Amino acid sequence: MDKKELIEKINQLKKEKNAIILAHTYQNLEIDEVADFSGDSLYLSRQAAKTDADIIVFAGVYFMAETAKILSPQKTVLLPNLSAGCAMADKINAEQLKTFKQQHPGVPVVCYVNSTADVKAESDVCCTSANAINVVKSLNSKEVLFVPDKHLGAYAESQLEGVKVITYSGYCPVHHTITPEDIERKKRLYPDAKVMVHPECPAEVTTKADFVGSTTAIIKAVKESSAKKFIIVTEKGVVQRLERDCPDKKFILINERAICSTMKLIHLEDILNALLHNQYEIDVDKQIAQKALKAINRMISINA
Ligand code: 13P
Ligand code: SF4
Repeated sequence: MDKKELIEKINQLKKEKNAIILAHTYQNLEIDEVADFSGDSLYLSRQAAKTDADIIVFAGVYFMAETAKILSPQKTVLLPNLSAGCAMADKINAEQLKTFKQQHPGVPVVCYVNSTADVKAESDVCCTSANAINVVKSLNSKEVLFVPDKHLGAYAESQLEGVKVITYSGYCPVHHTITPEDIERKKRLYPDAKVMVHPECPAEVTTKADFVGSTTAIIKAVKESSAKKFIIVTEKGVVQRLERDCPDKKFILINERAICSTMKLIHLEDILNALLHNQYEIDVDKQIAQKALKAINRMISINA
């Protein structure tokens, strides 16, 4: 089947089955051609919570589909490729979080949505890269535990007065390996370019940014800016979407390693197979889901 036929067949099945497709900003660009909603983790979880569809096909990674299932337990949630995991989410499990909590008794726990359902169930509130600062602030606590991402936790602390954010040791391999030298090299080539950074990057990188934000926030800031050149310090999918949407502007990807290989496991064929065969259905243990939902809903209400 060629691309046009694939897209037609997917759109037809979407109608027949009352399904929607949610696509993360790092997804292969072709997926946007069939996606109903495309954006960052926060935007997509909001769409998952409010949709009337019977089936949600999540073109993202495992924790995103799991979060959609927790928010909409009565719906069928499909992840088109079960190998689409997140290396950051795998950095902490529920037992490790319990130990971390025992080391800091009474300190509230913020968990980045890039985590498993059982880690969310052990946390007080979730956050995404779009709202981490507000979520930490909302706890009104002098100390906060933050898992699994040490960089996002440190970034939130740097933006707030009087809160100590005690971070776990996790990180995203795609962002963690970006260095200040990478930025300096690109700045020498494009001195007038604005530096747009995702907060999963180390502090030495975020401090060199003109703008720090989630993938959707970066895209919005670029579209609203009068600048013409941007160094994009996050995953390649953001550059591809910006090149598509803003042909009059120039985008420089920070380095060619900035690719989330598990996101890229999903192609149009996988979406078609997901709709044809109801695969792969994501399920979450009911007790864990109920506890995790509290942490997710608390986050959603903070930013309502
Ligand atoms: P967003 O919050 O921008 O969707 O980022 C999610 C993510 O996995 C970044 O690596
Ligand atoms: Fe996970 Fe990193 Fe991929 Fe985001 S870019 S989904 S944090 S591995």
